[in-house]
Amino acid sequence: MTRHLLSAGDLSASEATTILDSAEQMYAIQARQVKKLPALRGRTVVNLFFEDSTRTRSSFEIAGKWLSADVINISAKGSSVSKGESLRDTVLTVAAMGVDAVVVRHAASGAVQRITEWVGCHVINAGDGTHEHPTQALLDAFSIRRRLGELSGRHVAIVGDVTHSRVARSNVLLLRTLGARVTLVAPPTLMPAGVATWKCGLSWDLDAVLAGEVDGPVDAMMMLRVQRERMSGGYFPTEREYAIGYGLSPRRLALLPEHAVVLHPGPMNRGLEISSAAADSDRSIVLDQVRAGVAVRMSVLYHLLAGADEPAAALEEASA
Ligand code: NCD
Repeated sequence: MTRHLLSAGDLSASEATTILDSAEQMYAIQARQVKKLPALRGRTVVNLFFEDSTRTRSSFEIAGKWLSADVINISAKGSSVSKGESLRDTVLTVAAMGVDAVVVRHAASGAVQRITEWVGCHVINAGDGTHEHPTQALLDAFSIRRRLGELSGRHVAIVGDVTHSRVARSNVLLLRTLGARVTLVAPPTLMPAGVATWKCGLSWDLDAVLAGEVDGPVDAMMMLRVQRERMSGGYFPTEREYAIGYGLSPRRLALLPEHAVVLHPGPMNRGLEISSAAADSDRSIVLDQVRAGVAVRMSVLYHLLAGADEPAAALEEASA
């Protein structure tokens, strides 16, 4: 296993499958009354979040705690970052305390990669700008796999604000590694520069994709949040027009194949990219994704921090 997790593209098919398989065992402990494994006892994990987060930060915290690591949360608000300290100084300060891993979210693409050049501990990318969010892609793959079985040969449509989405990029990389086909669906203004070189299909026509006219029937439909906080100009005329062109409305939900599932990384803009009917339908696996997030992050922490020196012991205990 690699030393850091920066990009979904760094994982081979067998590494990704190992992480997903171990996450299956971690998932089982979520149903237990006592949710604690000794695997990371004595290790310290720091969540360093320079950007807002609900799911990712709290699930990394829960994941670390359930593995018995000591977990500390530092956010930009309330830290010396708000006094003007540089990223390098903040990170070196945290690392100097002797931590084993830092989980970092930062608004600048590439910031997390840079951090690996400054510190000796494990570094996990929890979202860097519009670049990558590898653990999100892992939890999405885990959630689809739980519902539909192996990803190989499956068709996943990723719909919406691809330009600003680190989730889309990480998903395209990981899903392809796992043998799935991906079609990105967005208005031309919300497709990133250079997207033609990505290894996936592209479409501007959501209804054609739903009808199976673009690379066959869809098995999973991933709706992306319209990221207004990253938009400086007009990417689409009005929210109403966006919803008409690219929102998962009740009509479109009904066009999906019987078995197909609906995903959203959250937070959702209900009524914009996804209707409440779709978000709350029985094909929506949005809350399964959140649950999977804890298991997948336990698995990632376990493989990075304990994987090499403490092989299967903790996992055996998990599945007992
Ligand atoms: C995403 C993120 O922050 O990259 N959310 C998440 O991690 N669950 C997507 C988003 O903010 O739209």
